[in-house]
Amino acid sequence: MSPRREVVANEAVRKVDPEVSEIEERDESSLRPRSLDDFIGQRDLIEHLRILLGAAKARGHVVDHVLFAGPPGLGKTSLAGIVAGEVGVGLRITSGPVLGRPGDLASILTDLNDDDVLFIDEIHRLPRAVEEVLYPAMEDGRIDIVIGKGPTARSIRLDLPRFTLVGATTRIGLVAPPLRDRFGFIGRVELYEPEELESIVLRSAGLLGVQIDTAGARRIADRSRGTPRIANRLLRRVRDYTDVKGDGTISVSVANQALELFGVDELGLDKVDRMILDVLCRRFVGNPVGLTTLSQSVGEEPSTIEDAYEPFLVQQGLILRTPRGRIGTDRAFEHLGLDRGTGRLL
Ligand SMILES: Nc1ncnc2c1ncn2[C@@H]1O[C@H](COP(=O)(O)OP(=O)(O)OP(=O)(O)O)[C@@H](O)[C@H]1O
Ligand SMILES: [Mg+2]
Repeated sequence: MSPRREVVANEAVRKVDPEVSEIEERDESSLRPRSLDDFIGQRDLIEHLRILLGAAKARGHVVDHVLFAGPPGLGKTSLAGIVAGEVGVGLRITSGPVLGRPGDLASILTDLNDDDVLFIDEIHRLPRAVEEVLYPAMEDGRIDIVIGKGPTARSIRLDLPRFTLVGATTRIGLVAPPLRDRFGFIGRVELYEPEELESIVLRSAGLLGVQIDTAGARRIADRSRGTPRIANRLLRRVRDYTDVKGDGTISVSVANQALELFGVDELGLDKVDRMILDVLCRRFVGNPVGLTTLSQSVGEEPSTIEDAYEPFLVQQGLILRTPRGRIGTDRAFEHLGLDRGTGRLL
């Protein structure tokens, strides 16, 4: 097997987030867990992976194709790296939106080494024509390429190296069933528990050389919307605050001050979360609101609302998704301090 190799096959399309500086992106990759033992939380998923990877290693087989599904920032990309790292094979990284034409995928596939992991992020955004190249590649290890045009066009068949496809998606519902069915294992990544996030904050603080006590770590964990990426981001923000205003160690009280200054409330809701609740509770007073209306009101893409905001708001019992639209719950009214009947401030 080839030594571990990381190649970015295409310039990945990055989410535009002005808050994430280049330095933070480098930090993010330095904070990624590198092995199954290093990975905190997602216990069932990690156990299943241990068996899947262990069995492939023991038999000398290539690992079955794996799909990771779940909200952003929960560790899907990290898991793809772990799959390659645990088996000791190469990793190639690309993503659905950058694979515009069948040829783009074909050239990556034919360039793989035996047993490599090919990671396709945002796999639900693969164009249909590219997806169709993937089917025989996943199933039979071959692709058919059409050469030429019109009546002289002919199709040639190419055999591929053995490889493992690891896909990631924030929208399992948008992955076409024929593609979904070709994965041997589908791992759902769930929002994290506060205790798990506390461990993640302590681990990241250790790696970044940040002084923090466990109560301070727990406070950051409690405000991280169940999401390690947010926990790490808050940790950096609170560290900055502590360096300037505190004595260099993150305690509960300094964490509180910093989080208040950054507008993160007790539930960890940020500005957009609160805008969503405000539209549902104050403007529409608990009546169902369609996704389009909601997205226009808060100025975010419908897909961003569905992928990044709703999972946590639903998990916290702050909103309900019904066939007629989104509804603010009693807990949301209470959280905003609004009257249930009129939507006015209490
Ligand atoms: N279980 C974990 N333990 C420790 N750190 C974690 C864990 N999961 C995620 N992280 C941290 O969160 C960051 C985001 O994780 P990652 O990029 O793998 O998420 P993702 O699911 O791929 O997100 P997206 O859907 O936005 O691509 C990582 O840099 C890593 O530091
Ligand atoms: Mg990712």
